[in-house]
Amino acid sequence: MGTLLVRGGTVVSASGRTEADVLVDGERIVAVLQPGSTLLGHDLASSVDTVVDATGKYVIPGGIDAHTHMELPFGGTNASDTFETGTTAAAWGGTTSIIDFAVQKTGEAVETGLAAWHEKAGGNCAVDYGFHQIIGGVDEQSLKAMETLVDEGITSYKLFMAYPGVFYSDDAQILKAMQKAADLGLMTMMHAENGPAIDVLAEQLYNQGKTTPYFHGIARAWQLEEEATHRAIMLADLTGAPLYVVHVSAKQAVEQLAAARDRGKNVFGETCPQYLYLSLEEQLGATGDPTWGDFEGAKWVCSTPLRSRAEGHQDAMWQGLRTNDLQMVSTDHCPFCMKDQKELGRGDFRAIPNGIGSIEHRMDLLYQGVVTGEITLERWVELTSTTPARMFGLYGTKGVIAPGADADIVVYDPAGHTSIGLEKTHHMNMDHSAWEGFEIDGHVDVVISRGDVLVSDGAFHGRAGHGRFLKRGLTQYLT
Ligand code: URP
Ligand code: ZN
Ligand code: ZN
Ligand code: ZN
Repeated sequence: MGTLLVRGGTVVSASGRTEADVLVDGERIVAVLQPGSTLLGHDLASSVDTVVDATGKYVIPGGIDAHTHMELPFGGTNASDTFETGTTAAAWGGTTSIIDFAVQKTGEAVETGLAAWHEKAGGNCAVDYGFHQIIGGVDEQSLKAMETLVDEGITSYKLFMAYPGVFYSDDAQILKAMQKAADLGLMTMMHAENGPAIDVLAEQLYNQGKTTPYFHGIARAWQLEEEATHRAIMLADLTGAPLYVVHVSAKQAVEQLAAARDRGKNVFGETCPQYLYLSLEEQLGATGDPTWGDFEGAKWVCSTPLRSRAEGHQDAMWQGLRTNDLQMVSTDHCPFCMKDQKELGRGDFRAIPNGIGSIEHRMDLLYQGVVTGEITLERWVELTSTTPARMFGLYGTKGVIAPGADADIVVYDPAGHTSIGLEKTHHMNMDHSAWEGFEIDGHVDVVISRGDVLVSDGAFHGRAGHGRFLKRGLTQYLT
């Protein structure tokens, strides 16, 4: 640790960019200075322990991935990244904080689920980590348990309108949880898909012999995302609870969010790289022909599903990011290997564990939106770091390069190049990459977490146990 100077770069924030040197003392940023400044007569470069040369590069606040699922028990198996492997991959990709979902399984006490999550993560993370709380069974006991979450530094919780029999909550349960959340100031995060209707469609498709991964996307129709998003918005409105809809993929769901926001509601939406770049046609097969049998598509089975490019969903996600009807890009990192995991659903798409692994590539992937002109450089920083910090009660400490903030800093090289692939750039614990063959303009050069250089010169210098639990405050994003 000691003192460190990031010299000669362009410091980018959510609101602008400036040529500046960043001085770090211990874990914190202590000054953002004009290039080449001296401080109290000292030439900084020769006074500090470490100099990081950022000439020609962007200096941005470390990425915050607010939606990850390390070791999640799901679909009859466990997400394949441990907190150690997943946060190491995060660091490689310029993400210095994650917010993972602690799980209360149906029938289990919230406290038990949360304690288990601390057990899994504690001492194992390479970057800082916080938790949201999944409430998998809303009842008197779990509603009571919600009252202690704020003191635990867990100021957001997730409900599921999907996955009947697993995490699903019905409308009565959602209403009660939201009433409680409104009282406590908790952010309600919603998986907004109509699960019971999806299950009917999925069973019908299966009975018709339509069993391949493609039909996962057909069963999870956009109408059922739109409908659930609308219902969640209305229930939130009724209770006064702010609402954050996770992994939005349907154009019509963005329209629901936009309409509610136009009415002044505290309604927010997140999308993920897979919904910006990938599609039902390209990844899961174009035809919809029941004989289309390629199981490769299982790699991209996630919920909400990849959607049709012809229907314009991907364009709508980019537009939502520009108009601030979508405020953040998280990964929903939920990796499963093909072997022994995705393969559980060979012959029945309903049994394919849902999830894609992207934690290592989020900063690079979204930067391509800057390269193509979809978003500005400042918006890239806002979507990947500053808003996640504000949305989930970390801002000031995280999400910004300013005196007093944690020294979580990424030096990003716009002239660099990154070829994504299992053999080339891969630190996630998976036997495939959902992003194989993607060519990235740009490169994560140096990654600093609380003053420690985790990645530089193409090498990893971090360690499991460096990452600390983030006790979060209430959201700082409400209007
Ligand atoms: O497919 C997904 N998204 N898996 C992770 C669980 C969830 O619903 O976020
Ligand atoms: Zn979900
Ligand atoms: Zn998720
Ligand atoms: Zn480079």
